[in-house]
Amino acid sequence: MNREDLKNFNRLPQSYWLASTAPTEYPSLGEDISVDIAIIGAGMAGLLCAYLLHRENVSIAVLDAGRILCGTTGHTTAKITSQHGLIYDKMKRQLGTELAKQYADANEKAIKQIKEIIDRHHIDCDYSPQSSYIYTEDENKIEKIEDEIKTASELGIKASFTDRIPFPLSIKAGIMFDGQAQFHPRKFLLRLAEIISTAGVKIYENSRAVDLEYGEKITVTAGNGKKVTADKVVIASHYPFYNKQGMYFSRLYTERAYILAVAAKEKYPGGMYINAENPSRSLRVLDTENGQLILVVGENHKTGQGTDMAEHYRNLVDFADKLFTVEEISYRWSTQDCMTLDGIPYIGFYKQNTPNILLATGFQKWGMTNSMAAANIIRDLIIEGTSPWQDVYNPSRMNILGSAKNFIVENADVAKHLISGKTAPLPEDVKVEPGEGKVFENDGERTGAYRDEQGRLFLVNTTCTHMGCELNWNSAERSWDCPCHGSRFTYTGDIIDGPAVSPLTAENDVNTVEKLIKDEF
Ligand code: FES
Repeated sequence: MNREDLKNFNRLPQSYWLASTAPTEYPSLGEDISVDIAIIGAGMAGLLCAYLLHRENVSIAVLDAGRILCGTTGHTTAKITSQHGLIYDKMKRQLGTELAKQYADANEKAIKQIKEIIDRHHIDCDYSPQSSYIYTEDENKIEKIEDEIKTASELGIKASFTDRIPFPLSIKAGIMFDGQAQFHPRKFLLRLAEIISTAGVKIYENSRAVDLEYGEKITVTAGNGKKVTADKVVIASHYPFYNKQGMYFSRLYTERAYILAVAAKEKYPGGMYINAENPSRSLRVLDTENGQLILVVGENHKTGQGTDMAEHYRNLVDFADKLFTVEEISYRWSTQDCMTLDGIPYIGFYKQNTPNILLATGFQKWGMTNSMAAANIIRDLIIEGTSPWQDVYNPSRMNILGSAKNFIVENADVAKHLISGKTAPLPEDVKVEPGEGKVFENDGERTGAYRDEQGRLFLVNTTCTHMGCELNWNSAERSWDCPCHGSRFTYTGDIIDGPAVSPLTAENDVNTVEKLIKDEF
């Protein structure tokens, strides 16, 4: 990809992790089945749950809405680290030392455990030990950095001060965490999927869970009507697909971030880096068959909000140019993460009174170690009845300072989009050009139009099938994105990201609407 491609966005994004591994071909759920444990979602959390549980002599089925490991896990930066921003001092002050230590221990153990699994099965996944750095260019944050080091050290993490990182940035202070790592997430997890599949775990692809009935046993229904009956269900579908209880739609929101993989003239100095402020900037390296690629990551924003998504990639190009002599932008892609109100994932029982439904979501962009932590907690809750880390991650916790305030802020934001989408003025400019997406009014209904490079027009109803917010066009990814809870749809209306479980309705009468567009525009 050259800079002109990036400027015009005339190529769709492609994740390096997906481009460098073979696609999978697990079957879809073709009949009703019964198992001990059904796991919904075959990303890192779901597959690690299945891996730990399959060693406990239980029958397991894992269902994925698409192909396995193609969602957030296939679009991550894959840093295996317990350094999740400046979190530990804040967590200690808000929750106390005991809960902060639970979080630190869960993630520190996860780092070691991922390495143990890799070694146990001799998995070739480009694993590489690295130090992890968080830095600030803001003098006012020096004290925060010092407090974070003190607290992280008290909690048992090897953290030390630095005021130098090997890039031309005016660093005021930073923290180095020792003993962290990076890897190729799909190489690791594809092999793990093979191992558990060979051991009897049933993996089903293209089997989106659309409903769940809760009784003596739990029945999960897939999109084609086939059912899985299970004693326990683990929901690891990123944003929970099950919406009837738990109010998760009011306790989770989604954010997008952007990634460039660039070839540079300079050799990368090693290490994984992230800044402590906004806009976010993060770096790591990949050693590929064709040489080093540097991942340049950042530009977080709420899904479906903002007007020019392509601008986020351009800002990352500017940042990369500041640090390196960029020779090529080899890949670009984006990712979507679930965020909780207090910054700690929801892992445990879906509700206090649902002992047979468990949940793992809201990894806050730190899904590598939090997925491993989730697998441990869920395995322990199912098999032992208790987990040493269950309190800090408890999805039903209500004791966290800031949650109530954040609840009001986040839900006011959702309400604003529910209302504003219906009343927003519709664009009155020009035609729908090839590669362009646009919303227009058709018989009083908002309709989304996208024209592909061959000139074909695709029309969809832009009301989100989750809870009715109005979708916005994402020019960089060519998708329809929901500003409320982050569902995303292709320009043909198929689901890319939930919580929506139904595709958009396509407008059938394309010829009529084509004429309407010509007349109107
Ligand atoms: Fe909830 Fe769209 S994702 S309304």
